[in-house]
Amino acid sequence: MDRIWMALDARARAVAERPISALFEDPGRAAAFSAREGDMLFDYSKTNIDAETLELLLNLAEAAGLAACREAMFTGAKINETEGRAVLHTALRAPGGSVQVDGRDVMPELRATLARMRTFAEMVRGGQFAGQGGAITDVVNIGIGGSDLGPAMAVQALAPFHDGPRCHFVSNVDGAHVADTLKRLNPETTLVIVASKTFTTIETMTNAETARDWMAARVADPAAQFVALSSAQERTQAFGIPAGRVFGFEDWVGGRYSVWGPIGLSLMLAIGPDRFDDFLSGGAVMDAHFRSAPPRGNLPVLLALVGLWHAQVLGHPTRAVLPYDQRLARLPAYLQQLEMESNGKGVTMQGTRPLRPTGPVVWGEPGTNGQHAFYQLLHQGTQVVPCEFLVAARGHEPDLAHHHRLLLANALAQSAALMRGRSLDEARAIAARAGHAGDELERQARHRVFAGNRPSTMLIYPQLTPQVLGRIVALYEHRVFVEGVILGINSFDQWGVELGKELATALAPVIAGTDPGAGLDGSTRALLQFVAEFESR
Ligand code: F6P
Repeated sequence: MDRIWMALDARARAVAERPISALFEDPGRAAAFSAREGDMLFDYSKTNIDAETLELLLNLAEAAGLAACREAMFTGAKINETEGRAVLHTALRAPGGSVQVDGRDVMPELRATLARMRTFAEMVRGGQFAGQGGAITDVVNIGIGGSDLGPAMAVQALAPFHDGPRCHFVSNVDGAHVADTLKRLNPETTLVIVASKTFTTIETMTNAETARDWMAARVADPAAQFVALSSAQERTQAFGIPAGRVFGFEDWVGGRYSVWGPIGLSLMLAIGPDRFDDFLSGGAVMDAHFRSAPPRGNLPVLLALVGLWHAQVLGHPTRAVLPYDQRLARLPAYLQQLEMESNGKGVTMQGTRPLRPTGPVVWGEPGTNGQHAFYQLLHQGTQVVPCEFLVAARGHEPDLAHHHRLLLANALAQSAALMRGRSLDEARAIAARAGHAGDELERQARHRVFAGNRPSTMLIYPQLTPQVLGRIVALYEHRVFVEGVILGINSFDQWGVELGKELATALAPVIAGTDPGAGLDGSTRALLQFVAEFESR
């Protein structure tokens, strides 16, 4: 693989001065450097990838043994080697068949849990499962990370399909989050979902206890309005939630990949089990595409290769995700966990240091809002930020079609502007029209130059439906997988989050004043001192 990486480096040097726009002298460029999955189009023609570079990137995937790794994942091999686990979120959305883990077919149990979720959701939505003051009007999902971001992102994304109870999401241990959420709700008609795979996460358990106290103050049997989504049956029972209202999943569903199963219960309550099935079937459609489409027409493979070209070959340390779709406002945050917790690693599968940078920083905001905030840097800043645009061909508001036309125009215009830029001569003409002349014209013109040549991709889909959202989420999941395989890292553990958790647990009694906190560093001691002084006032 080293040889291919080096060839890519050479390629990067060779094309460094070539404007992306020059590639469009080939009238077939847009068609050749885009691919479809059904009615979804991924266009990467506005990058500096040409046929030779694409060939090298495809060689990289082949040399990494991508096809075999992919089959290993889908068939239940324990590819999460540092935790000794299979990686089977794809089984949660599989339309049928069997998947063996440790010689046992896991599908019957998955289907049984999904059927229980469906029955429960129908009862809540139909009013047969009610609160102690009447039908459930509000659902509060208490969870964090993968037990929050997926359902929170998807419930917002699918607002046009939301016909169930209102959904709220509490994640932060900051009491402000739970307090501000609960104060608007009636405990007698609220269902609380405690979503935690481990049922030990301190933020979630603290919020769950606060919610239970809040409910106990008004209803006779608070536990009756609690549901748990967790693999830890003993802990859910100890919390007081009976087994009939616990929806479990196995350790081969990673937190950030868990929206497809019980962690998606709030989404199922919001949009109903049939539309939740559509979401799952969208994921399954992308799985089938990922498994069978040839690499050069395979969306997750291409998205990953574009990512690797930008981050690992050209060295751009961040990438922006820019959904021109207000309802995907939480997608960048969702992808931050998916991509950065998965591929933000400093060690290879073999335990050695990676030779290339691993996952880039992922960030973003919906368009057009971002245009009025950070796009200045995207266009004229000294760092190049590869941009990933997402947009629907059609919105959900037929009466507001003119809004959607403007939205689309902005998405397409931004990606064109990033590539095209504005030359000094064009800027001079603008400065002249503004009445400048001589040296002042030169000075003014330089401020109006856009270097251009900034890469972007566009994912365009017909309309944001449950099925399309399922395809988009699965597309990004597989992209992360492909990048991880090529980088030779484990995308499915997250040891990097442990130390901070341990130190927070150790510091809590120090802040409470029950532990002297021996061995703390000077900065932490000084900060604690500030808090103590403030508290003693
Ligand atoms: O802090 C990292 C993490 O383990 C995530 O991977 C996970 O999604 C989140 O915490 C929540 O974990 P749990 O569902 O066990 O509460």
